[in-house]
Amino acid sequence: MKKLLITIDGPAGAGKTTLSRALADRLSYTYIDTGALYRGVALAALYAGIDPEDEAGLEGLCRRLRLEFIRTGRGTRLILEGKDITDQIRTPEVTMLSSAVSAKPAVRRFLLDVQRRMGENKGAVFEGRDMGTVVFPDADVKFFLDASPEVRAARRYKEVEGVTGQTLEEVERDLRIRDRNDSSRSLAPLKPAPDAIRIDSTALSLEAVIDTMLAHIQTRR
Ligand code: DC
Repeated sequence: MKKLLITIDGPAGAGKTTLSRALADRLSYTYIDTGALYRGVALAALYAGIDPEDEAGLEGLCRRLRLEFIRTGRGTRLILEGKDITDQIRTPEVTMLSSAVSAKPAVRRFLLDVQRRMGENKGAVFEGRDMGTVVFPDADVKFFLDASPEVRAARRYKEVEGVTGQTLEEVERDLRIRDRNDSSRSLAPLKPAPDAIRIDSTALSLEAVIDTMLAHIQTRR
């Protein structure tokens, strides 16, 4: 069967990660979480003491950055300069920093190449903000997933509850700030591609969304 390149874009908490993983699983495809790459750059900047507004500093950092995914028995891990940073990139501080560095041209340029190389063999589900608009405008199937801010915050809170120490109100505040940053930046802002299939998951179960997505994918295979 023809191998497809599938993209899923949308704001934080829309269900992209869960759905991308489930789809990749069902189709025996690779799953790529591109937000993890932006988080990896943010953590590297934090370690190097580079301010997210220091574009020259970020450009230099990207030039020497060694960031890669490896598959292990514990799932896919993100490796920075040989060190496993999969867990460190999920803190509230790195989350907010990732949104800030993702608005910078040098960072987007660097990760554009990295992501396109990862997509060369197709048979993959890419999750992010600009997958269908900028990184893979010719993707075979594009989804844009959304849900109400309240539902997205509640989902995110369930994931981080007892891990980051944040309250539901803090999670919702950070989510709204990131929504604004990610949608209003001039470079590759979060928005649906004209040919994206839009799904609002506010009132839908995970299974219902997967079934809808698989039905669309089936028509393109
Ligand atoms: O999906 P996430 O929450 O892990 O992403 C973290 C940040 O990275 C998000 O606030 C915006 C940025 N990002 C981006 O600009 N483009 C992508 N394709 C993926 C993430």
